[in-house]
Amino acid sequence: MCFKMRYSYIIENVMENENTHTIFFDADFNALPGQFIMVWVPGYGEIPLSLSCTGKPKAITIKAYNEPGMKLINYKKGDKLFYRGPYGNHFSLVDGKKLIIAAGSGIASMHPLIDDNSIIIESLKRASDIIFEKELKGRAIFTTDDGTLGIKGHVIDALKNVNLNDFDMIYVCGPELMMKSVFDFLKDKNVRAEFSLEREMKCAVGICDSCSVSGIQLCTEGPVFTN
Ligand code: FES
Repeated sequence: MCFKMRYSYIIENVMENENTHTIFFDADFNALPGQFIMVWVPGYGEIPLSLSCTGKPKAITIKAYNEPGMKLINYKKGDKLFYRGPYGNHFSLVDGKKLIIAAGSGIASMHPLIDDNSIIIESLKRASDIIFEKELKGRAIFTTDDGTLGIKGHVIDALKNVNLNDFDMIYVCGPELMMKSVFDFLKDKNVRAEFSLEREMKCAVGICDSCSVSGIQLCTEGPVFTN
């Protein structure tokens, strides 16, 4: 159990789209894809954020839909980022082919898994919501609500056209409704899949119970669960 707050210097702040930024910071702790840190935003408290890069440098990707998020995306190179962690379990690492299924900024926690063996299904509201464009273009099937990029529709509309037997592991992260639809779709398909759930986190070390789902604490037993 580790409550120790530390800081790292921000190396770069990359604007992904209008309200989403990736902040790279210089940190030497060990972390694996799927783990999260608790970031302290002065004046607001702590917020849980998945690591969108787990190597060197590390990164977090923030969608600013509230004031703490707005404050974070305005951090500049040389600013201090205060945090504790990493916390939680992680996605299983496989050598074979990977199918990564995400909606919106859910792709952030699976960004470290993207490589030449990955196919991604990314569901967006509109084309302008895309993040990690460089890494996704060429290896992603997009769906958008308004049809401005890829298939007009949702994740399942893309998933129906994919041969699931081609993949050694399927990773899923996004809003719960989307994850439930994927879980149901995969139920009788005999495939390996892992889902990363998001919940309010306060202590991140199994004390406060704010992250409990059906008696399971996401911060210590999750956030990644198998199908
Ligand atoms: S966040 Fe406190 S128990 Fe999980």
